[in-house]
Amino acid sequence: MLSLSQQAVAVRSHVDRRLAEAGVDVDDVLRGRLDRHFGRLFEHFTELYGERADCLDQLTALVVAIARAAAARPDDLRALDAAREADPDWFLDNRMLGGVCYVDRYAGDLEGVRARIPYFRELGLTYLHLMPLFRAPEGDSDGGYAVSSYREVDPALGDMEQLRSLAADLRAAGISLVVDFIFNHTSDEHDWAVGAVSGDPAYAEFYRIYPDRTLPDLFEVTTREVFPDDHPGSFVQLPDGRWIWSTFYHFQWDLNYENPAVFTAMAGEMLFLANVGVDVLRMDAVAFIWKRLGTACENLPQAHTLIRAFNAVCRIAAPAVLFKSEAIVHPDQVAEYISPGECQLSYNPLQMALIWESLATRDAGLLQQALERRHAIPPGTAWVNYVRSHDDIGWTFADEDAAELGIDGFDHRRFLNAFYVNRFEGSFARGVPFQENARTGDARVSGTTASLAGVEAGDPFGVQRVLLAHSIALSTGGLPLLYLGDEVGQLNDYAYLADPEHAGDSRWVHRPPYPAQRSAERTDPDTDAGAIYLGLRRLTQARRETAQFAGGALVGFHPHDPHVLGYQRPGAEGTVLVLANLSEQERVVPSEAFAAMPAMAHDLITDVDVELWADLPLAPLQFLWLQL
Ligand code: GLC
Ligand code: GLC
Repeated sequence: MLSLSQQAVAVRSHVDRRLAEAGVDVDDVLRGRLDRHFGRLFEHFTELYGERADCLDQLTALVVAIARAAAARPDDLRALDAAREADPDWFLDNRMLGGVCYVDRYAGDLEGVRARIPYFRELGLTYLHLMPLFRAPEGDSDGGYAVSSYREVDPALGDMEQLRSLAADLRAAGISLVVDFIFNHTSDEHDWAVGAVSGDPAYAEFYRIYPDRTLPDLFEVTTREVFPDDHPGSFVQLPDGRWIWSTFYHFQWDLNYENPAVFTAMAGEMLFLANVGVDVLRMDAVAFIWKRLGTACENLPQAHTLIRAFNAVCRIAAPAVLFKSEAIVHPDQVAEYISPGECQLSYNPLQMALIWESLATRDAGLLQQALERRHAIPPGTAWVNYVRSHDDIGWTFADEDAAELGIDGFDHRRFLNAFYVNRFEGSFARGVPFQENARTGDARVSGTTASLAGVEAGDPFGVQRVLLAHSIALSTGGLPLLYLGDEVGQLNDYAYLADPEHAGDSRWVHRPPYPAQRSAERTDPDTDAGAIYLGLRRLTQARRETAQFAGGALVGFHPHDPHVLGYQRPGAEGTVLVLANLSEQERVVPSEAFAAMPAMAHDLITDVDVELWADLPLAPLQFLWLQL
């Protein structure tokens, strides 16, 4: 019996022969990358498909496709590959700052996005996530998350050539382009989907289609309902009576990755996007990509193997490209997707949720605990820290963590949902419930940052809460991501209720069109928009100028007051101590908290000196970034 690495060597020479027969150009660079990464690809691929008689043929076809994509990679992107291979930590820099927007809502179309590049530079963006922009069904397409072709841009937004040239223009402006890699499912109009349903043998096994309810019923014993407002369970019925796996909306059909042809086909779409000039692929719905009877069909070990295999594919053909994991699950499981060989970046849903939790409770406990216990991730990886996204807020903290602080997870989630949808007396928030499930008691929350923080309600501390929330995302370590429009305090947009395509999905309340009026006010400090924008500019500028904000190293700090959050960011030029008062009362951090620290510190935000030898008063919702 050959060992795995001996097998890899044997298969590699077989693959090399096939590449030569197929006339694919393998230059020294590609050969070197195959030498470095083929073993890994082989290992992951055979782990998934080794039992199949056609495993070797499938792997060979995959490598031929990889080599073709590598050969077709444009020169400027090859140069980027080389630069990033030489500097793999490029994205850990403290000058990194992300923004996210919908192409149509924020800028009309791709040309509109291009016209906003000067504004992105004004903001200091180095990373721009354009929400799904691919061809999708007319009408409701889950905001583009139902993709009908990965190689075509939605004609209303532009075309692939425009995306290619926009990517180049963004790169020239120092901005990396991020798009979604929606690889768990396609729309029901994708060619693969149409082929599968009509019986085309090439696509027969691309999806999970069942003749009757037998297996669906068995699977549904353990799967969870993601969009119960749309359909119960994880399957929808086809007109011919059969059942197809559909985790999200009924027009989004889950791909069947037990079929290696699906992997190879998706790898082809991925490398196509890489060669258009995409820098980061947001790996959508990673938790759901592998299914197995008797499990929740989320976060299975094979899901990781699959992403690692995609990672190896990318390292060979387009190593400049990074993966960002979108796993909105238990924090233990979020962490499992993060490593240089899997996803180098990951949303930080725990920090996001706990920012809001701490603002509602005025208590730093859970957030402090999460920062001390769950913030550290492997070298060569980074969190994407955000205050809110295009999706709902789910309270994904661990019940075990909460229990240690005497908090009951179920009750606490009920409180937070009530607080943020303004069903709790005295709440400053104006959120909207999302997918309330009467059967399970589960619900999530929609709303823009400003509306959730109190600006919509006219709360006197609303603006300051928006700034405090962003201060946390900007200073804990990782790549901060702004939802564009939030930097000028955009409010909820209730117009979605009048739009039949959106009325049933409250996430549209926090996806407003470009806030032109607020944008025009952004330099006027007497407006909410200006106060937020100018305050945020101070923060992003201080972050850019402070090397301690690079990377993710974080050390705890105990302010001796449950209402005050504290943490330290160590660095070669001394430590930065961050403090934040989460309450609407003045709080005092007693001098003994600073016993091990110098007598004076400098606040990087306001540029004033602060005494640490005496008790330190903090105004309501005040935060400090103290250079020790
Ligand atoms: C992701 C997206 C969400 C979408 C879902 C299905 O979670 O963020 O907006 O509904 O995937 O694609
Ligand atoms: C994500 C999450 C789910 C979330 C949904 C869309 O994949 O896992 O909880 O609500 O997409 O919002």
